[in-house]
Amino acid sequence: MTLTTTAALVSAAYQEGRGVAAFNAINLETVEAITAGAEAANLPVIVQISENAVRYHGGLAPLAQAAIAVASSSTIPISLHLDHATDERLVGIAVDLGFSSVMYDASQLSYADNLTRTAAVTRRCHDRGAHVEAELGAVGGKSGVHAPGVRTDPQQAAAFVASTGIDALAVAVGSSHKMTTRDATLDEALISAIRRTVDVPLVLHGSSGVSDDGLRAAIAAGMTKINVATQLNKAFTAAVRDPRRRPRAGRPAPLSRRRPRCHGDGDGTPPDGDFSPIEWKRSHNNKIVTPAPLDTEL
Ligand code: G3H
Ligand code: ZN
Repeated sequence: MTLTTTAALVSAAYQEGRGVAAFNAINLETVEAITAGAEAANLPVIVQISENAVRYHGGLAPLAQAAIAVASSSTIPISLHLDHATDERLVGIAVDLGFSSVMYDASQLSYADNLTRTAAVTRRCHDRGAHVEAELGAVGGKSGVHAPGVRTDPQQAAAFVASTGIDALAVAVGSSHKMTTRDATLDEALISAIRRTVDVPLVLHGSSGVSDDGLRAAIAAGMTKINVATQLNKAFTAAVRDPRRRPRAGRPAPLSRRRPRCHGDGDGTPPDGDFSPIEWKRSHNNKIVTPAPLDTEL
């Protein structure tokens, strides 16, 4: 019902001085968990898929299409965003698949090359109605090394935005990717300074390393899109490793979509369309011996 655009979510938050959360999804379960969390909070959310996740899956389409399906039946507005793309072809693929926004990340290049490449990608995306986020200042941590000392210069940021035409800017203000502790100290004065000189919404990467109070202060100082990945992965992997926890999707499929696997008499084929496995089991005289695990045939 409510697949929306990142531009709509970010621009509403920007106008109202609020933050909007952007969570990284790495598989269907995390898409479902992000959606369930946002529905429980009754807040819109940006679901983002990174180039790393695309590489892991060997392509964007399967996870993207799953995310579109989940978002489309959600009760809250959800947008889909391609995160940290360095491959310009992937940007085009994401837009083809229906992503309303991309982050084109050329922050590892020289300033001049970052500007040139970002401007070219932005023109192509705008021609197709997609919103573009870019990065200036290279938030650390993506190579495994935290680099909280890197900073974005406000004047350079303003010039970069004006020359590239981007819609949102990721800035380096003290956060660092992949932190598992939440003790990063953000430079709120710098956030305010960039907010004053730059006329597009600002994006905080590496938000996992920032405390709740730090995030609130960052939003008050001028941050809009808040990117979180590592904390979700920490929770996800802890749950997977915990033998006491049963497999449980973040947003379990309705019973009508769960198809039991059958043994015994008959061909064991459940009817097509919506059905109740419980009723079906009863009508088959409890011939079902092994229900399908929840992670298959859903
Ligand atoms: O682009 C994604 C984010 O910057 C996430 O960073 O994993 O440190 O939360 P994080
Ligand atoms: Zn990031």
